[in-house]
Amino acid sequence: MSDIGADLDALSLAARERLAAASSAEAVDALRHHLLGRSGELTALLKQLGSVPAEERPALGQRANEVRGELESAIGVRLSQLQAGDLEARLADEAIDMSAPGRPLRAGHLHPVLTTMRDLREIFHAYGFEVFEGPEVETEEYNFELLNIPPDHPARDLWDTLYVAEPGSIEAGESRPATDGTILRAHTSPTQIRAMRALDPPIRVLTPGRCFRYEAVDASHGFEFFQIEGLVVDRDTSLADLKGMLEEVARALYGRDVRTRFRPGYYPFTEPSVAFDIGCLVCGGEGCPACKRSGWMTILGAGMVHPTVLRNGGFDPDEYQGYAFGMGPDRMTMLRHGIGDIRLFFSADLRFLGQFSEGR
Ligand code: PHE
Repeated sequence: MSDIGADLDALSLAARERLAAASSAEAVDALRHHLLGRSGELTALLKQLGSVPAEERPALGQRANEVRGELESAIGVRLSQLQAGDLEARLADEAIDMSAPGRPLRAGHLHPVLTTMRDLREIFHAYGFEVFEGPEVETEEYNFELLNIPPDHPARDLWDTLYVAEPGSIEAGESRPATDGTILRAHTSPTQIRAMRALDPPIRVLTPGRCFRYEAVDASHGFEFFQIEGLVVDRDTSLADLKGMLEEVARALYGRDVRTRFRPGYYPFTEPSVAFDIGCLVCGGEGCPACKRSGWMTILGAGMVHPTVLRNGGFDPDEYQGYAFGMGPDRMTMLRHGIGDIRLFFSADLRFLGQFSEGR
């Protein structure tokens, strides 16, 4: 055979080596083009057949076809090898290690004030109190008048709140924008009237909720805060019931050793009225900014429901009495954890809030 036969063998051998080295489907395709394409290496050899003696031509032609067939099938084999390899690599890539430890989930938790409110709800539940909620946007009538605080009463200053202006009155530049008597409630006490009007005695309700006041903000005052109102209306209730229960509540919340005291207080909607104090747990009673240096912190106001308020609620004061109390869960939470500044509660600072993640 002529040189062409040797060239065919060499081409076949070299092609297999290059095929084995091709590492992607694209490289194999390029090689196919280079070997078998119209101006490929095999085609170039076939073109030389014309110059070969006629008797050698059939054998060489046949050999060339064999080489083409061998290369084509070798290319096919290589392509499917590469595809299988790709799949393997992908599977290895996507494999999940079932034995790996899970990533910790960042779960939120209750705000410390909310935790106090839930604890209080539990404690009062044991005394038979149910939750009865009222609106945050109230009317002056419920916030003041029906609670025995007439418009010109100086006690209104204690609950100076945020008024909702009538549309247009601010734009008109009036120094005191007109309001239709809609306000943000300054305390949860308006719910006393709502509960008395909605429920049949005996009434034992607890009203947790947000309140608002036009207040200079400092370490112990916010313009937005929480209260929990309690109201009992029955035929035979007394201040002694109230005292005994509140002392127990303080112990349940702060431990058996907590110091407590009742002071005379004044509220237009209770008579007599008391303030209930707890020995300051921030400073231990020595005096600090949180307790205004008195060693005591007032956590609630209370008293026997005023006859006028009972009447406004639809009850005859000769037949029914009641007591009411209003607690400040923000302040109670400060005492509980020794927090010195009420502003931290609304700061949304996770370094502060994250300290209360335990448990609940
Ligand atoms: N509403 C009163 C306050 O905000 C607290 C209070 C409630 C007092 C019920 C007596 C009875 O200060």
